[in-house]
Amino acid sequence: MNYKNFYNRSIANPEAFWKEQASELTWYDFPSTILSKDSYNYDQWFSDGKLNMSYLCIDKHVQDGYGDQVAIIYDSPVTNTKKKYTYNDMKSEVGRLAGALKKLGLEKGDTAIIYMPMIPQALFSMLACARIGVVHSVVFGGFAPHELAIRIDDCKPKIILTASSGIEVDRIIPYKPYVDKAIELSKHKPENVVVYKRHLGADVPDKEYDLDYKSLVRTADMASPISLPSTHPLYILYTSGTTGKPKGIIRDTGGYATALKFSMKYIYGVEQDEVFWAASDVGWVVGHSYIVYGPLVNRNMTVIFEGKPIRTPDASTFWRVISEHSVSVMFTAPTAIRAIKKEDPQGSLIKNYDLSCLRYQFLAGERCDVATLSWVQQHIGVPVIDHWWQTESGWPMLSNMAGVELVPVKPGSATFPVCGYDIQILNDEGQEVDASTEGYVAVKLPLPPGTLRNIWGNPDRFRDGYLAPFKGYYFSGDGGYIDEDGYVFITGRVDDIINVAGHRLSTAEMEEVVAAHPSVAECAVIGVHDDLKGQIPLALAVTKSDNMLAESVIQEEIVKDVRAHIGAVASLKLVLIVERLPKTRSGKILRKLLRSIADDKEFSIPSTIDDPNIINEIKLAFTTHKVGIN
Ligand code: COA
Ligand code: AMP
Repeated sequence: MNYKNFYNRSIANPEAFWKEQASELTWYDFPSTILSKDSYNYDQWFSDGKLNMSYLCIDKHVQDGYGDQVAIIYDSPVTNTKKKYTYNDMKSEVGRLAGALKKLGLEKGDTAIIYMPMIPQALFSMLACARIGVVHSVVFGGFAPHELAIRIDDCKPKIILTASSGIEVDRIIPYKPYVDKAIELSKHKPENVVVYKRHLGADVPDKEYDLDYKSLVRTADMASPISLPSTHPLYILYTSGTTGKPKGIIRDTGGYATALKFSMKYIYGVEQDEVFWAASDVGWVVGHSYIVYGPLVNRNMTVIFEGKPIRTPDASTFWRVISEHSVSVMFTAPTAIRAIKKEDPQGSLIKNYDLSCLRYQFLAGERCDVATLSWVQQHIGVPVIDHWWQTESGWPMLSNMAGVELVPVKPGSATFPVCGYDIQILNDEGQEVDASTEGYVAVKLPLPPGTLRNIWGNPDRFRDGYLAPFKGYYFSGDGGYIDEDGYVFITGRVDDIINVAGHRLSTAEMEEVVAAHPSVAECAVIGVHDDLKGQIPLALAVTKSDNMLAESVIQEEIVKDVRAHIGAVASLKLVLIVERLPKTRSGKILRKLLRSIADDKEFSIPSTIDDPNIINEIKLAFTTHKVGIN
């Protein structure tokens, strides 16, 4: 198939294109309206269609005679466990858990938070919610109780599903105690907490709202999937924005199922019943789309990996998993490859494994540097495909579409737009710029199916953040350019969001924590270059005039505060105490200037700067403390 023709067809007549793709799914009612407007005058797909995601991921395959096919391969080097679940097993596990949730009074439209490590029960919980129309919100385990509490107050779950504990390389993560702490902090109080006990040696205090996952499932009746409108929210997934408050991205059901099914075939080029492995976490969008829903809708075997690319036990883990489970297509973040490369620069460990099963290696989550791309290409010997997308899109926006036609790669570019995405580069005035001119990456409306529907409880933020900046376009928040050959290059965020080890974090949120330290008068948090994690946060703090604490004490306390409030995943370890911050004459902190200095990028001194001499002071502080690229 020819990429250009296929892509052009999707842009020229989106309704015909996506109607055809939607017919690849089994609907209770096939939609008669393909594209229409919702009550906010925003595009929606398949509004009168009816279907159920849990049915498509499980029951459909059982009905088609594939009940004995493996659906989930759970591989946990941290607990030394390997276990497989067939589609029949899934039907029983998910059906009974859904029955238990129903018995607890959960109904279509209720919300539930899932805060679990990478265990099969996290997937069962998501699919059980989907089965009965409960909107789930999975929260990544690396977030601290305070962050969990913010999400509890925003989506007001009737219940929380959690596990007693998880393992992070060399330490136990007390999931259940974190949930208790979050409930203490939140205003909204969920009715129950369903706890999957793991017996990893952690102390798990009992609370009156606790229910035991295993006994609930053992005694529950099976619940069948219910027919849901295509526009029914399947989930809310919180992601960092440019304020201290995360945004709850709402995903629909029918558009998402259509897009995922399409992407498995045409982007990832994976056949039904092959093994697909996305080495991410269910707490991120990659986990939602390509550990859970995408592979299962497509009747693949999906790998749930509870470990890290290194240290569990070493840098050969990925290669062992690929070869042991015959993975056909794999997806990870460039950071994971950099971590492996650091431990095994010559790729010697790769030679111990037969990777002949692997067809494609996909990379995403952050910018893929050329050195990382070349290293994988050299050592794995299969096409390495950098692709670009975000929580909001839910599935790739730029990619070499492996199931259509592999086009030649230009390092640094995730190649061309995926079907349905009319990607343009705009200037400040919202006009499309010439080839190779950098600007804002935007997508002409309508977006294809599967992308965000809105922000939970905050339609104004949705409109103002994504639609208002450029009329007729969705604004991605990324900068980039398109070269003369049409290759799209993403150069990075144009806002205060940073990307640390493939994790999207808000510097505004970290600033709130730093500013709350009693000795801090004012502060700025920026992302600076890091060889392993791509970016790491750096806090610059100016102390109050009456501060009596030593610098080292303030630094230590700030690191601890950010870890306690946001979570270990924030990775804030660098705190610089400075005399003053660069500001405009009206007192606005010049964060962009700070970022450019740290990353040794060219910059022009803003005419509004209060005192240009500060640039040399900051340069000196960064050089002395080896911050960023110096
Ligand atoms: N629960 C609790 N804590 C967690 C966690 C979880 N699920 N995930 C991460 N953390 C903690 C880590 O233990 C670490 O704590 P520490 O500062 O005490 O060491 C901290 O959060 C930062 O974690 P991470 O960014 O993962 O760094 P790391 O040093 O532990 O590992 C890599 C480095 C490169 C191996 C790791 O970041 C990695 O595998 N990256 C791939 C990223 C990825 O898959 N992203 C998904 C998007 S596609
Ligand atoms: P998230 O919403 O957590 O998936 O993060 C999305 C952001 O990560 C995007 O807006 C980009 O800034 C960045 N990103 C993801 N994939 C890529 C990629 N392949 N190349 C460059 N940046 C990427």
